[in-house]
Amino acid sequence: MRMKRDITLLVAAVLALGIFVIDAFTPLNGAIAVLQIAVILLVAPVGQRALLMCGAACAGLTVASFAIGHGLGGWNGALVRLIVSLVAQAITVVLSLRDRSTRRSLDEQARILDLSHDTVIIRDRTDRIIDWNRGAETLYGWTRDEAIGCVCADLLQSHIPDGKADLALCREGKWAGHIERTCRDGRRLTLASRWLVRTDAAGEPIGVIESSIDLTEQIASEAERNQARMQLSHLSAELAHAAGVATLGQMSASIVHEVNQPLTAIINYGNSTRRWLNQPEPDMAEVRQCIDRIIASGQRAADVIRRVRDMARKVPARPEALDLADLTAQVLALLETEARRGKVRLTQTLAPGLPRVVGDRVQVQQVLVNLVMNAIQAARPDGSAEVKIMAEPTGAGQLAVTVCDNGPGVPADAMGRLFEAFYSTKADGMGIGLSICRSLVETLGGTLTAQNGVPHGASFTFTLPLAGDGCAGTHEALR
Ligand SMILES: Nc1ncnc2c1ncn2[C@@H]1O[C@H](COP(=O)(O)OP(=O)(O)O)[C@@H](O)[C@H]1O
Ligand SMILES: [Mg+2]
Repeated sequence: MRMKRDITLLVAAVLALGIFVIDAFTPLNGAIAVLQIAVILLVAPVGQRALLMCGAACAGLTVASFAIGHGLGGWNGALVRLIVSLVAQAITVVLSLRDRSTRRSLDEQARILDLSHDTVIIRDRTDRIIDWNRGAETLYGWTRDEAIGCVCADLLQSHIPDGKADLALCREGKWAGHIERTCRDGRRLTLASRWLVRTDAAGEPIGVIESSIDLTEQIASEAERNQARMQLSHLSAELAHAAGVATLGQMSASIVHEVNQPLTAIINYGNSTRRWLNQPEPDMAEVRQCIDRIIASGQRAADVIRRVRDMARKVPARPEALDLADLTAQVLALLETEARRGKVRLTQTLAPGLPRVVGDRVQVQQVLVNLVMNAIQAARPDGSAEVKIMAEPTGAGQLAVTVCDNGPGVPADAMGRLFEAFYSTKADGMGIGLSICRSLVETLGGTLTAQNGVPHGASFTFTLPLAGDGCAGTHEALR
């Protein structure tokens, strides 16, 4: 590099001196001095300082040769030629300086393009590649020299899914969107691309400059994440279903009792009916009453079985407006025997006319059953055990339902782990009840928290969004 520079300067010096000698010692009368312009142009690429010094030297030599050739007399036309030469040299220096600064800014822009990790491709009107930066070399696999001159769409097998790039370029002079391309090793890429029409001085389009970034990995990992999310929600649903069935297993004694009771009643009423009919004068009013009771008991047994089947069924959640008082009464009916077996007094203080909430009937039932079962299991077995269910609006568009007991409460060190899956302090506990309750409630837009009572007992509170107009989350949850 340095050697090339030295040789250039040497050649320029020899040339300048040659011109000077011819100018000064031959009878050409100063016309030759204008050739110093060639020396200036030769030195221009070397550097700004060299250019300025060369300009000054050429001017000095021109003036010197004028002085030698003409002395102090005979100026006339020669002076004009001297001035023309000097002006021409000065103009050449100025233009060369300007050319250098333009070149420098172009070089800098090219370096910036190369520094960018994005791909930058400059194309002409026929889609032929005029330039592409290092980012494009790295991503697509072709070097700049290989790519230049190729038709971009052919080389990269471009496909624009929305197909509207040409229209947008025509109308607005720019386009942004996704594009699919194939790189040298055959990999298909998806890129986010921005295109801008290049115009000439008259504003006529002369091609396109585009900058793109590779989204392939991002899209792949997003797809993976979505799949994982779907698998997780499928697993959660499976687990919730398993937990529901497990709870039913725990409640089997109550269920048998619940079904047995109406069945026994049906048999009794059936016997009574027969007795009434066997009388010499059957009392049809009594018979009718017995049959009504048989129907009511049959209905009750069918209700219990429907509730059990609901809890065991495996269908997607269907949020609807729910009357919690009604739902709680059903849950208490299912758990009555369980409470009696544990000598627990099970009460509810749900005020009539409570606003409805949004939730899936089976899921909310499952949450209540789990919390009440836990409370019954935690209650003291000395006959003073109590489990209460209460509910009140929170004022934040939600209804809070609390299940509290007067058992030993949750040990301080267990408080943080209660909602972890498989955390259980019971010998036969699965430890998934509370974690599933929390995820069910959160899916419905509510929360589930635990507190210890004073002086003893534990209470679990879950909230659900109120149904009705102007209630945030309702429509979301109902979708
Ligand atoms: N009402 C309660 N009082 C005291 N501890 C409770 C109560 N409810 C739940 N717990 C604690 O939380 C743990 C986790 O409960 P849960 O997730 O329902 O699983 P499991 O009932 O199978 O143990 C229980 O093992 C118990 O230690
Ligand atoms: Mg439990």
